[in-house]
Amino acid sequence: MSGYVGNFTVKIRKKARYVDPTLCNACGECAKVCPVAKPDEFQIGLSSRRAIYIPFPQAVPSSYILSMDDCLGNNPIACGKCAEVCEKKAIDFDDRDEIITRSVGAVVVAIGFDVYDPTELDDYGYARFDNVITSMEFERLICAAGPTAGHFVRPSDRQHPKRIGFVQCVGSRNAKIGRPYCSNICCMNTVKDTLLLADHYPDVETFVFYQDIRAFGKSFEEMFQRSKEAGTRYIRGLPGDIEEDPKTRNLFVTVENTTAGKVERHELDLVVLSVGVQPPKDLGKISRLMTLSKTSEGFFLESHPKLKPVDAPTRGVFFAGGCEAPKDIKDTVCQAGAAASRAGTLLNAGRIKIEATTSHIDAELCKKCGLCAAVCPFAAITWKKGEVAVVTEAMCAGCGACAATCAFAAITMRHFTDEQIFAQVRAILAEDPQDKILAFACNWCSYAGADMAGISRLQYPATNRVVRTMCSARVSEEMVLEAFRCGAPVVLVSGCHYADCHYINANRQTVKRVQRLWDRLERAGIRPERLQLEWISAAEGQKFAKVMHRLEELRETVTSEEIEHARKALQPKPKKQGKEEGTKIAEAVA
Ligand code: FES
Repeated sequence: MSGYVGNFTVKIRKKARYVDPTLCNACGECAKVCPVAKPDEFQIGLSSRRAIYIPFPQAVPSSYILSMDDCLGNNPIACGKCAEVCEKKAIDFDDRDEIITRSVGAVVVAIGFDVYDPTELDDYGYARFDNVITSMEFERLICAAGPTAGHFVRPSDRQHPKRIGFVQCVGSRNAKIGRPYCSNICCMNTVKDTLLLADHYPDVETFVFYQDIRAFGKSFEEMFQRSKEAGTRYIRGLPGDIEEDPKTRNLFVTVENTTAGKVERHELDLVVLSVGVQPPKDLGKISRLMTLSKTSEGFFLESHPKLKPVDAPTRGVFFAGGCEAPKDIKDTVCQAGAAASRAGTLLNAGRIKIEATTSHIDAELCKKCGLCAAVCPFAAITWKKGEVAVVTEAMCAGCGACAATCAFAAITMRHFTDEQIFAQVRAILAEDPQDKILAFACNWCSYAGADMAGISRLQYPATNRVVRTMCSARVSEEMVLEAFRCGAPVVLVSGCHYADCHYINANRQTVKRVQRLWDRLERAGIRPERLQLEWISAAEGQKFAKVMHRLEELRETVTSEEIEHARKALQPKPKKQGKEEGTKIAEAVA
């Protein structure tokens, strides 16, 4: 995929089916003679399929496909039995993948999520005991179109289980395994499963081991109550471990019932691990392809959680479904509708409004070094060796990383120009600078965090003065140095959490820049801690207040001699101007 909003070019690989869907009448004769047996992915390996198969019962078109990875071979044809029995002559071993190129104006990313694999949680014995299954496997086992045609049996002996336990939060809300987030769907999925069991198998006893049940959606609480009324026992506490009796293959679950305040041991026929969701494994590839951002949990990051919840930071790209965050069907459908509407609005307008804050390159000042192109997270700047860099304004999101990087002041960020920011710094520190903390705050997180501290009426020292920039990456080294030259005792650069920058990964440049500044301060005999870097999110008003208290304590330790020393030591050196310096940088970049 290449291009930008309104003007994307996408290449789509249409995979070879090896069966013509317009001829195939799904009679199934081919599958009967196919000698290959492979685990059926749709049934999560609980049954097998042939090399020629229908992917799942409701597949559209309802015709067979041939998996060349599993077939005995088509070049030369090694078996060919399917083609021999196909009366419609629908099988074509010469079929090939096709690359289709399309021009599109907008893209909706809806690549879904993956389900957590609980193998690593050894205490639950998923990899050791046949009768410990995941909630997805349970779905297949109880489904009329599943491997057992809806006859609910346990895997070890194909007997109908009488006592079933569900373990909640497997792979969710567990920081130890790097999954601190709630998967959103598991509680209600289990409640639904218990009702299903109560309906179809009234003789089954069900137990749910949980930390807390999140029944927050419309009618969810009523559904939860119905499940309890149907006889499901909800036990507050997650099992410590699961053991198996090798003879009966029954499972023993040891759990601390925190409501009753005692340790219990339950003998069960089957345990269902209610597994959480995780970002799809291909998310990184898609993210690189479209220059999208990820949250610290690895899902796609929306442009703004309240104002642009379905927009990607890359204009013209929208999110729908679980790739943006774990969500249930209703929320997914809502988001998909919103994404389609946003894309429709964009396309129907016929013209787009670009961000007011975009960068502009002065061709006369540009020294053709290409550093701006290298730091642009949106690939909005194109540069070729020896040529002036060019900004595609429709792609520029306005983070300002390029302007802060350009050593020749060749880039102007509209509405956040160097002059405007320097003027703010100088004005703030014009009087009694020793009593002030200068804080650069990014628009989306830190500035909103300061706002949150205010809205929450949190008390913090009144010595801080905030300069807002769109992204922390807009803060150049010169801006920080100017603050020290103007007598600032302490300077703070703050932005969104490291992986949460609203401009994909622009705040990586912030880190690099602040590290360079720390080195410079140290070399100049200035305490590096006088420059602080903090990640403060929009919801972290408390953190903002806490940081301000800490910085105030620091400010009180900075002496007037230290301030004076910094003023002098950081005076700019006379710069070598012109071609020579630009050429040096260009060579370094090359
Ligand atoms: Fe906050 Fe980039 S937008 S650091």
